[in-house]
Amino acid sequence: MRLFDELKIKDMHLKNRIVLAPMCMVSAEEGMANDFHIIHYATRAMGQMGLIIVEATAVAENGMISNKDLGLWCDEQIKPLSWIVKRVKAFGGKVGIQLNHAGRRAKDKENMVSASSIAYGNFNKPKELTIPEIKEIVEAFKTSAKRAYIAGFDFLEIHAAHGYLINSFLSPLTNKRADIYGGSLENRSRLLYEIIEAIREEWPIEKPLGIRISYTDYHKDGLDVKDYIEILNNIKPNLVDVIDVSSGGILKEKVEEYPAYQLRGAKMLKTHTNYFIIAGGMINDAKLADDIIKLNDADLIYFGRLALKDPYFPLKFARDLKIEISWLRQYERAK
Ligand SMILES: Cc1cc2nc3c(=O)[nH]c(=O)nc-3n(C[C@H](O)[C@H](O)[C@H](O)COP(=O)(O)O)c2cc1C
Repeated sequence: MRLFDELKIKDMHLKNRIVLAPMCMVSAEEGMANDFHIIHYATRAMGQMGLIIVEATAVAENGMISNKDLGLWCDEQIKPLSWIVKRVKAFGGKVGIQLNHAGRRAKDKENMVSASSIAYGNFNKPKELTIPEIKEIVEAFKTSAKRAYIAGFDFLEIHAAHGYLINSFLSPLTNKRADIYGGSLENRSRLLYEIIEAIREEWPIEKPLGIRISYTDYHKDGLDVKDYIEILNNIKPNLVDVIDVSSGGILKEKVEEYPAYQLRGAKMLKTHTNYFIIAGGMINDAKLADDIIKLNDADLIYFGRLALKDPYFPLKFARDLKIEISWLRQYERAK
């Protein structure tokens, strides 16, 4: 397989394996997408990225990372997101959205909630969620998934990485609960499993569902890839299709970055699970990306900062790899 080969995941047919990583654009008002979002995402589709994943989108107001996050906590937020969907599809891309609750890393420092009352760095201490409150959050993911379906998205991604709410339940560094949501790995995974099952009541089984994980906490007492292999292999069959592999974020310490710095996690998950794997992290050249696919270390590659700098980088990648791809008709004279 090669970077520019097609890929079909459930009913989503991708023209290549190039993915726009979800990236908060901190540009929404009251959770509503606007012209900036439409142009930003559509431009990446014009640049021939196969799958565009729309940034972390809050399922509840107290789950926003910043006060300018996108949201899907109410019906009014569906329509402007459907405009993004329409434009990305018009330019031949497929489009997903990442659903998030920021937990102890939320902007709303007064109403932060988490698995346990353990602060993120110098943030305020969050409130430990009660079981009825956990059920409300599961419901919020479910209704947001329904809204994402109405907006027309092809793909849905649950944000279980970077120290946000779901990650704070998974990691023993932030989950010290004494009830059925704490203790064993199975108990710490319970919130994630409940969210997956609730989402699947609204998100049709033919449509791919993904999870973004932080494959390592970068801490000796935290989670590492072997734990994630267990967590992910214990999900009921056929509910989840894609694992998007990131790392860190539970602790405030900065992660050391270098080209393909997260590939270890992607490779291990590719070998030990049956999911489609998206690898990424400072993958900035065509040969490196193509080699990862050729070696079957991952099925797709995500690109973050490179795609912010240059929405047309896939055109250059194709030239570097001496592969003929179709350009937008309007731009062909620049070929
Ligand atoms: C501006 C910016 C915003 C980001 N927002 C998100 C986000 O909303 N959700 C997420 O999972 N990761 C987010 N990330 C992480 C990226 O998705 C990606 O994993 C990271 O940038 C590493 O890939 P890169 O080296 O290709 O940029 C963000 C990164 C950047 C630079």
